[in-house]
Amino acid sequence: MTSHNEGTPEYSTRLDKGDYESRVHRWSKKSAEVYNNPFPVKTVNFIDWDSPEFAVTPDDDRWIMPSNFDLGASEWYQQLPREKQIEIGMYRYAHVAKVGSEFEEALISGIALRNQLLPSDSEEKRYSTHEAEEEERHILMFNEMVNRIGSKPHGAPSWFRNMSAYVGFVARRFPVAFWAVVLAGEEPIDHTQRRLLEMGRNGTPVHPMLEKVMQVHVAEEARHIGFADRFQKQNIDKLSPLQKKLFAASLPLILLLASDAILKPSPKAVKAMGIPKEVAEQVWWKSETGRKTRQDLFINTGRRADILGLRNGDEKTGAPKNKLGQLAWRLSGLSPSK
Ligand SMILES: [Fe+2]
Ligand SMILES: [Fe+2]
Repeated sequence: MTSHNEGTPEYSTRLDKGDYESRVHRWSKKSAEVYNNPFPVKTVNFIDWDSPEFAVTPDDDRWIMPSNFDLGASEWYQQLPREKQIEIGMYRYAHVAKVGSEFEEALISGIALRNQLLPSDSEEKRYSTHEAEEEERHILMFNEMVNRIGSKPHGAPSWFRNMSAYVGFVARRFPVAFWAVVLAGEEPIDHTQRRLLEMGRNGTPVHPMLEKVMQVHVAEEARHIGFADRFQKQNIDKLSPLQKKLFAASLPLILLLASDAILKPSPKAVKAMGIPKEVAEQVWWKSETGRKTRQDLFINTGRRADILGLRNGDEKTGAPKNKLGQLAWRLSGLSPSK
């Protein structure tokens, strides 16, 4: 092998791209097929991706988005030719899965870096390591679905990717805020998946592969949501009054950003789907339905904010009202108007 650059070695350790990738692929396959678990496992479930019911075939109406769900509710989408509705539906579902997996990647980095500071016998460290392990499997699952759908969606907006680099810092310094950020991502995904699953149970056609992936995800997320909720309740009184004020004031902003990152497609994704700008603005939060959809994502988060003393207070626990929090929720438009 010849090289014209001085100092460049006259040899290469590289395999052909194809050889290299097939070798890495074999390792992935082995890792997926057999592995040792440090704990006894009772039931092992897996997705039989190649089963005929999960096949992704062209011209399948089950990829058309329901008329009361997300982009499917817009008149623009409903008036598109059927093939276009299928194509955009496939892109949109794959896109949300890809963004969800990027969120999980950020979450894992936060857990891993925080756990370096925790003692080996910490229950939190043990649990959150399991959570990270589950999130890794969710990423593999979402990626597999995205690849099978085959629409090569754009992922999260670049501001989200840039901010993800600081997740470890927040997780170490402000763990209560970290778990609030985690929930700000998990609750909208969970809420959206539960809605679509319910529609499927009530007769709306949903592709079986998408349905299976959502069932697996919803089942495991229930535990994640439970932990992040408990962690905040357990540790909120460790915040100083100033930290609590800052937390109360910034929580609605975190929720706005999280719902934008996860459910509102980035400008690149909007362009790839060919959605007119006005339609995108209406669906992602500017119309009455859009606003209501966003408020619904965070109903549980609002109740939790009351209990944590970050908003309206709670009679049962005696949590006080938080005027700054109330103002922030009002300004954010996330509190449902009565
Ligand atoms: Fe997940
Ligand atoms: Fe999760």
